[in-house]
Amino acid sequence: MFDTLEGYIQPGTVEAELVQQIDFTRLPVHVAIIMDGNGRWARQRNLPRTEGHKAGSEAVKEVVEASARLGIKYLTLYAFSHENWKRPPDEVNTLWGLLHRYLSEESRVLMENDLKLKVIGDRKGIPYPVRRELARVERLTRGNRRMTVVLALNYGGRQEIIRAIKKLLGRGKIKEIDEEIFSRYLDTAGLPDPDLLIRTSGEMRLSNFLLWQSAYTELWITPVLWPDFRKKDLFMAIIDYQKRERRFGGIQPVEKSGRS
Ligand code: FPP
Repeated sequence: MFDTLEGYIQPGTVEAELVQQIDFTRLPVHVAIIMDGNGRWARQRNLPRTEGHKAGSEAVKEVVEASARLGIKYLTLYAFSHENWKRPPDEVNTLWGLLHRYLSEESRVLMENDLKLKVIGDRKGIPYPVRRELARVERLTRGNRRMTVVLALNYGGRQEIIRAIKKLLGRGKIKEIDEEIFSRYLDTAGLPDPDLLIRTSGEMRLSNFLLWQSAYTELWITPVLWPDFRKKDLFMAIIDYQKRERRFGGIQPVEKSGRS
């Protein structure tokens, strides 16, 4: 069970030292990650880009486990963007193949560890075999409570906002609109906004990820390439996040996160 750090972190290691610095009463509730740098990781090793994505899938497994063990409640991973279709067909097929494999192989792990799967993005454009597998795993895990793993697939923040507006317009006469009502029409309805957004490989942009939801999210950017991202990097991001004062536009720090 991914329910504790005991036995998972070896005494005397860098990880153990980092864990001691984490305040478990002030964890980010929702961590979102832009997993970037798979291609560069492969190039550095003279490997095809697809090998970078395969190694990236292994990093996903480690981060899911570490997040659940820490007590993070929501983990959102940007796995296939609306713009990723521009890549060569071979790379696109590998990515969807890896996602299919992840779902088939990890559904048991999700069940054993009380993890729920949720998808955000435009489902209609997702290749049918992956869509079918997603529906199966979402149905299977819907009662799970420890942590929700949100996969952003065929996802773009602008496209999500337009989809939400279309849904709203489809409801006929709109009498009232505010942030809370609008949020209910987004793919992320029911999820809290991310507290912490991690981006790997040193790029300093949002790349169309959670544009509405990240209005007050703390950003943490690391030069580490995604396939090299390990639990210690996640711990470092959380320690840095906990040093920040979140004021949400006001002048007083606001305590919004913590174990729920
Ligand atoms: C960005 O690296 C990464 C992606 C476009 C895909 C992310 C996918 C995975 C980590 C693997 C599958 C996911 C799961 C959930 C099993 P890049 O290719 O843009 O890297 P580069 O900028 O160095 O070229």
